Amino acid sequence: MNDIAYYQNIFLKHLAANKIEGEPATLYDPANYILQLGGKRMRPVLLLMAYHAFDDQIEHALDAALAIEVFHNFTLAHDDIMDAAPLRRGQATLHEKYNMPVAILAGDVLLIKSYQLLLKNPGKADPLKLLTIFNKAAIEICEGQQMDMDFESADDVAEEAYLKMIAYKTAVLLGAVMEIGALMGGASAHDAGLMYQFALNVGLAFQVRDDFLDTFGDPEKVGKKPGGDIIQNKKTLLMIRCLAHATPDERAEILSTEGSQAEKIDRVIRLYLKYEVDSATQLVQEHYYNQAMQSLDQADVSTARKDVLKQFAKWLLERTH
Ligand code: IPE
Ligand code: IPE
Ligand code: MG
Ligand code: MG
Ligand code: MG
Repeated sequence: MNDIAYYQNIFLKHLAANKIEGEPATLYDPANYILQLGGKRMRPVLLLMAYHAFDDQIEHALDAALAIEVFHNFTLAHDDIMDAAPLRRGQATLHEKYNMPVAILAGDVLLIKSYQLLLKNPGKADPLKLLTIFNKAAIEICEGQQMDMDFESADDVAEEAYLKMIAYKTAVLLGAVMEIGALMGGASAHDAGLMYQFALNVGLAFQVRDDFLDTFGDPEKVGKKPGGDIIQNKKTLLMIRCLAHATPDERAEILSTEGSQAEKIDRVIRLYLKYEVDSATQLVQEHYYNQAMQSLDQADVSTARKDVLKQFAKWLLERTH
């Protein structure tokens, strides 16, 4: 059976051979800076795995895989501006290393390059169909990102609204990536739909884990400033569940802006632990993981190709970075 590293290595070679070229360097250096910072490369790996489930010639899927990673890095460049984040993958974010206008424009050029790359080699799929899937996800990401920002200033956010927000900002892209990969490999609409559902559910579990790691992860591994979500008043599942348990005094404590950032993070973590919301989010992750498995089981794909997808979903949810 091919393992995750197999797909990652194929993708990394393609990435290294396909830097984003152009002038002026003051635009393209920042664009390549974020792309070369590293990361798990999970979206291109998912695309390659979805393609491979239906066709052996995965080299045909490499440009589309690159397109998705380029698009993802555009979202990160702009997300770090929205979240006032100083660190990404353990290094300075684009707007910190360069400046805000450059981070915006480098993001823009990455977005447009991603469309060029997606249409370079559509495999067995109708390019218009790929564009339709991609556009839908891209618009939903904007909607999810706006909801995420709106919730920063909302005192109460329902869990249902949170789930829609993370589906849009994070999970739909994973779904689209796998649907695109599957269609390019010649999958039926039904099987491509199951791949979408599989990845959507993995994506939900993945974002719940991302929220957990933002507060409880090892900063060295996570590569982001620890407690960033708490400082930005993000309505993560941890925060929503904690607010639901908190007494009026504790609620005031959570929302208070008194003291240093470190003090605020300490106060909130103490309440998270008191109400054990850290372990509760574990159960939510497991729920979505099981949903993902149900979709995968129904797909008309060989056991070996399913197993590597299962392995990947497991790895993502147990990840420490
Ligand atoms: C970060 O995505 C943005 C989220 C949707 C949480 P990843 O965790 O996939 O980031 P990299 O690419 O591995 O750094
Ligand atoms: C990011 O979500 C989602 C997108 C980039 C579209 P987060 O804001 O939680 O991601 P991180 O934690 O900065 O990676
Ligand atoms: Mg964000
Ligand atoms: Mg962020
Ligand atoms: Mg996060």
